[in-house]
Amino acid sequence: MKKWWFDYKTVILSGASSGIGKDLTIRLIKDHGCKVIGIARTESKLAALKEELGNKADNFSYYTFDVSEKEKWFELAETLKKENIQPDILINNAGILPKFDRFANYTLEEVDKAMEINFFSSVYSMKALMPVIMKSESSAIINVASSAALCSLAGTSVYSASKAALKSFTDAVREEHRGEMYVGLVCPGFTKTDIFRNQSESSSKSEKAMNMVSTDCDKMVDLIIDGMYHKKEDMVFGMDAHMMDVGNKALGTTCSKVASKVMEISGLEIFKEVFRR
Ligand SMILES: NC(=O)c1ccc[n+]([C@@H]2O[C@H](COP(=O)([O-])OP(=O)(O)OC[C@H]3O[C@@H](n4cnc5c(N)ncnc54)[C@H](OP(=O)(O)O)[C@@H]3O)[C@@H](O)[C@H]2O)c1
Repeated sequence: MKKWWFDYKTVILSGASSGIGKDLTIRLIKDHGCKVIGIARTESKLAALKEELGNKADNFSYYTFDVSEKEKWFELAETLKKENIQPDILINNAGILPKFDRFANYTLEEVDKAMEINFFSSVYSMKALMPVIMKSESSAIINVASSAALCSLAGTSVYSASKAALKSFTDAVREEHRGEMYVGLVCPGFTKTDIFRNQSESSSKSEKAMNMVSTDCDKMVDLIIDGMYHKKEDMVFGMDAHMMDVGNKALGTTCSKVASKVMEISGLEIFKEVFRR
């Protein structure tokens, strides 16, 4: 039978309460016997996930806190130490997608919030937990960025910046610890999760169009699990993500220009504010 290097490991995973993080938690526990320590803000969703895990529920424990509160990560590191728990893998997956909009329309509070949750939370978790993780013989950190880190589109200034920061940060830390631990970066394209819940009254036309370009969540999780197995460093997953990656490398800003134009002429409700002059 195929052996996976992360079988039976202890994983700290942020954003475990829904979408990619929830499905990853289920897969790591059910298929790989991992113990997952999940983090998110919504206790009811984490409790429901524990219940859903049935006879594997003991493999899932959770902490409810906002990942952008840096002291919580240090408290978690202390708690693990007190309880004699040795985590092997940290997966920074929690994230938010601010409403598609022009930069001029965002408040500075919205900008700070996105940077705190999508970027600084990983800086805090890594500062607090890397020394502990690195004691494991299978130490690994996997950060979930986005295809938005590879090519910026109109309406995503803040989201793209937060994810590009996470990408650059991850790439540098990987080189600093090459040979000591596995550092992976996932750049998913559009994936069918609830992350679009905050977008403006999206019409069924918008939803249909987004669904057409989006990867199913369980397929995305398959790709991430396989990428982890092969210790892939750059995990660009989803057809749209590949197009943005290749397009940006080949065409530079022309890729942003063409993709943004496509968004504009699509006339979709969710991009309405972005192109309102
Ligand atoms: N879906 C996509 O199309 C897509 C594409 C590219 C990249 N991504 C990235 O993939 C990751 C997972 O996204 P998803 O699509 O699975 O979204 P999702 O279904 O909205 O899940 C986001 C998770 O992050 C948690 N979270 C958000 N803010 C938090 C905070 N301040 N503190 C603690 N937990 C927080 C949420 O839990 P609570 O709300 O309970 O706190 C939830 O568990 C994100 O980093 C996202 O940027 C997604």
